[in-house]
Amino acid sequence: MKLWEGRFSKEVDKKTNDFNSSISFDCRMAADDITGSLAHVAMLTAQGIVSAADGAAITDGLTGILEDLQTGKLTIDPNAEDIHTFVEQTLTARIGDAGKRLHTGRSRNDQVALDVRLYLRHEVADLRAQLAELVGVLADKAEQYADTIMPGYTHMQRAQPITFGHHLLAYAEMLLRDIDRLDDVAKRLNVSPLGSGALAGTTYPLDREAVAKTLGMSGVSQNSLDGVSDRDFCVELAAALSLVMVHLSRFSEEIILWCSWEFRFIELDDAFSTGSSIMPQKKNPDIAELVRGKSGRVFGDLMTLLTALKGLPLAYNKDMQEDKEAIFDACDTVKMCLTAFTPMIDTMTVKPENMRKAAAGGFINATDCADYLVSKGLPFRDAYKATGSLVAECIRRGETLETLPLADYRAVCDLFDEDVYDAISLETCVSQRRVLGAPCPDNVRAQAKRVKTLV
Ligand code: ARG
Repeated sequence: MKLWEGRFSKEVDKKTNDFNSSISFDCRMAADDITGSLAHVAMLTAQGIVSAADGAAITDGLTGILEDLQTGKLTIDPNAEDIHTFVEQTLTARIGDAGKRLHTGRSRNDQVALDVRLYLRHEVADLRAQLAELVGVLADKAEQYADTIMPGYTHMQRAQPITFGHHLLAYAEMLLRDIDRLDDVAKRLNVSPLGSGALAGTTYPLDREAVAKTLGMSGVSQNSLDGVSDRDFCVELAAALSLVMVHLSRFSEEIILWCSWEFRFIELDDAFSTGSSIMPQKKNPDIAELVRGKSGRVFGDLMTLLTALKGLPLAYNKDMQEDKEAIFDACDTVKMCLTAFTPMIDTMTVKPENMRKAAAGGFINATDCADYLVSKGLPFRDAYKATGSLVAECIRRGETLETLPLADYRAVCDLFDEDVYDAISLETCVSQRRVLGAPCPDNVRAQAKRVKTLV
């Protein structure tokens, strides 16, 4: 039976009903739908719009439905049009006429706008907790590897020495901004549209603020058309989650590189790797690859939402039903990725000796060599050129700056002295990078501590 049966003389075509129905995906908002209805009926009763007896019957009925859904005593009818219809019809079937009063002063348009907000409110809280957990793991690892020297890269070429802890904390910073963005989304999410009605509010003396308060929301929407039409919060969340995926995907790419035999900077735990059906030697970083691959889904969800909204006239249009699968998928995907990603990072084995070896082989102390000459009074441009010819000489002779004899240094520039070897040692190069935000071990330890206070 349809909610609109008075106006219609025929049942909706079966396939059309399936096409129109959202129950297969909005069923996950059942508890939120009931929470919203409980707040609505409490207000209707307090305002004298519904009698105390009917209000109590509706409240008991809704509470019973929620319990029965949770225990599995009641299953959701897949033929219902949507979760709002299902709950209301079940309520009326259970308590009789009082159930028909629940929808007084309300439309499914403001109801669904509320339900999505309530649903996403706990999704955002879960996502935030998962991100905070990953940031905590990164900060712990950063402390552990604050002194571990590795090559930093630009253009995937060895560039300057950094520490592994510093590298990990770069991701912690990105994720902290992601958390910040989620907190920002949560603010605008936590506003009640109930009372907007179908589009033009209602003639009943609703107490919108009271409903918002019962629901723990910070306020109410200020324009009824906007109240039912706004899905900005879905777009904002999908955008914030897209950036989470960008960050996880970049990190995954590095994990994949680092555990290759070419790098061997880390080894993933067996529990977070997979083998090959044919090549017995293989240990593959599937989780990292999947996270990288799944980023596209979340970007797609963002595009789905933007596209669904962009041409819509005010106020509600059925196109907006498309918001749910997109934003649910974005949340599900990121949660799934984090569930696998965080323990993968937590359990990886780090190989400092291989990082050290890679750092020693690529002239990543050349800038420091030039800086040494600057400290002896040479202008930086001249120092750069002199060091460049030293590097060329080393490459020609199969030497490194550490092994090149002092006489060869002095042949290029007589400002070089015995102390150059100490100045270009990787330990010096790293420990002297002390400016705020730079990778020296003391900074890394301090930053790891700071990061921990933020999550
Ligand atoms: N299932 C619908 C949605 O998700 C609920 C709102 C229906 N409103 C309407 N006027 N048909 O958007």
